[in-house]
Amino acid sequence: MQLGVCYYPEHWSETQWAPDAAEMAQLGLSVVRIGEFAWSRIEPDPGRLCWDWLDRAMDALHAAGLRIVLGTPTATPPKWLIDANPDLLAIDHRGRPRGFGSRRHYCFSSSAYRRESARIVNALAARYNGHPGLVAWQTDNEYGCHDTILSYSADARAAFRTWLALRYHDIAALNTAWGTVFWSQEYRSFSEIDPPIETVTEANPSHRLDYARFSSDQVVAFNRLQTDILRAHAPQTPILHNFMGQFFAFDHFAVGQDLDAASWDSYPLGFLEMGPFNSKEKSRFLRQGHPDFTAFHHDLYRGVGRGRWWVMEQQPGPVNWARWNPAPLPGMVRAWTWEAFAHGADVVSYFRWRQAPFAQEQMHAGLKRPDNQDAPAAAEVATVARELKSIAAQPSARSAVALIWSYEAKWLHDIQPQGADFDQFKLALDWYCAARALGLDLDIIDPDADISDYRLLLAPSLPILSDRLIQQLKNKPVPAVFGPRSGAKTADLQVPTALPPGPLQTLLPIKVSRVESLRPGHVEHAGPYKIGRWLEHIETDLPADITTEAGHGLMFSQDNIAYLACWPCALMLRDIIAEQARKVGLATVDLPEGLRLRRRGDLQFAINYAPDAIDLSAVFPDAATFDYHLGAATLPPAGIGAWRIR
Ligand code: GAL
Repeated sequence: MQLGVCYYPEHWSETQWAPDAAEMAQLGLSVVRIGEFAWSRIEPDPGRLCWDWLDRAMDALHAAGLRIVLGTPTATPPKWLIDANPDLLAIDHRGRPRGFGSRRHYCFSSSAYRRESARIVNALAARYNGHPGLVAWQTDNEYGCHDTILSYSADARAAFRTWLALRYHDIAALNTAWGTVFWSQEYRSFSEIDPPIETVTEANPSHRLDYARFSSDQVVAFNRLQTDILRAHAPQTPILHNFMGQFFAFDHFAVGQDLDAASWDSYPLGFLEMGPFNSKEKSRFLRQGHPDFTAFHHDLYRGVGRGRWWVMEQQPGPVNWARWNPAPLPGMVRAWTWEAFAHGADVVSYFRWRQAPFAQEQMHAGLKRPDNQDAPAAAEVATVARELKSIAAQPSARSAVALIWSYEAKWLHDIQPQGADFDQFKLALDWYCAARALGLDLDIIDPDADISDYRLLLAPSLPILSDRLIQQLKNKPVPAVFGPRSGAKTADLQVPTALPPGPLQTLLPIKVSRVESLRPGHVEHAGPYKIGRWLEHIETDLPADITTEAGHGLMFSQDNIAYLACWPCALMLRDIIAEQARKVGLATVDLPEGLRLRRRGDLQFAINYAPDAIDLSAVFPDAATFDYHLGAATLPPAGIGAWRIR
């Protein structure tokens, strides 16, 4: 467990580098990430590579004992490069090029940009491979940030046609898969197909889903271009990428296959403000962040990194990019750091060292203020650094419960929501919150993961069910709960011949005969449960496990498989997950609002997200007798408790 920071030597005078490095080390930081936006300084003119300043910056950081993560600078192609290759700009859904002057303006499919990226990554790797301070590479920065995955350039169109030809082989197969006979959309060859934009009304959904899959594959290919070069130069140096929160436009599991570890950028207060939360939650957790949003991403990226993951950027104070940008509760930066370690992080690195007084992020806090005084987070970081010296932690073990998260499902529901508020992420987060509020630890896995070691599977919604998952469930019946719209589509985005839930019918004899989306405010009552948003009608001989007062079946099960024919409310989810956990012998507790637990090895952590103190003995009657490494039986707001499990 180590601490780090993001640093931009190119933002400060050279005389500042050595004192900054010494102060970082003094504070207890051991990792520093640099370089990811520095292309215009590395190559100020075409072909004129200026390494001298970066050599000296790397040496200054290394001399202070810091371990360096060096970013490839491809998130920010400089002005001369754009002017020489205007076709490397991404093209938006109105066919307009995205402008220079911020960042991420490139198109993943641009052949000119792939060539230029390979050139600069190759030069960087040749220069710094073997530098004694280098511990890892970071590819690019936040793929997709500012909505930059989908691009409709000429190169993207050509690559899409090739991608389609590889997928379908002949155009008749594509016409059948997309159902292009509908509205006379039939194509005679792949070369007639354009990206699905600027249509009069909605474009063909299968066409759109394939464009989303294609665009995701372009990110994978762009990243692999870089990892191949970096590995050729430095086979032993780990490669990471810093993914984002609440961002799903490409398949992160697929990119993760080419990395040695995943990392993500955690801004709990910005995400609370911009996330799918109601105003009561936004007020209650204003200075703490939502108790489950950050944890969801920790668990997701532990999966993406196949067990190895970092927080590359940790919020240290107010950010600049949410609608409103409050300051964290005193102690919260420390609590966020410990929560990441509790979920198994190897490194937590803060963004950024010193607040920049200029340009776009001048209102974004760092560990230091622009006048070089400490910002409030610095003292909390020093505290964590001290605490880390006396706490050893084992790696985080596999959880008993897995939640299946599918990027493809997210694209599909965005393309065909059927109800304005059918949001796959909100649905998955609701399930995750319910399980966490019962004190359960979760892994978040991709739909093709090996499920054999889990004791309980939660699948909030998997519209396209893979043969592999169904086969795994047949071979080893892991208890599983499927949510609405699971099995609702074929891989081509068509309604299955036998109706939903498609192949799940081989495990559970039910048929979804019709679905309804319900506008906000409409509620169906089922005892204590209030059901809104989404309701399915089921034909089956099975009795329903839960029924509305009007006699409408909401949950059906047989053997180990259960299906929810509605968008479940929080209470219903809690009861269902608690019951399933009980059946497989997993203990649950009812946590007070805002308290969350997480186990790492034999260390049990408790984190208080509530604005009031919480007494752990309300949950653990013997809490007073625990052997605390952090905290005590009463956790103040932003408090962390950690004790060894005997
Ligand atoms: C991240 C990004 C950083 C910085 C930060 C501000 O999304 O990777 O470069 O912009 O946000 O919060």
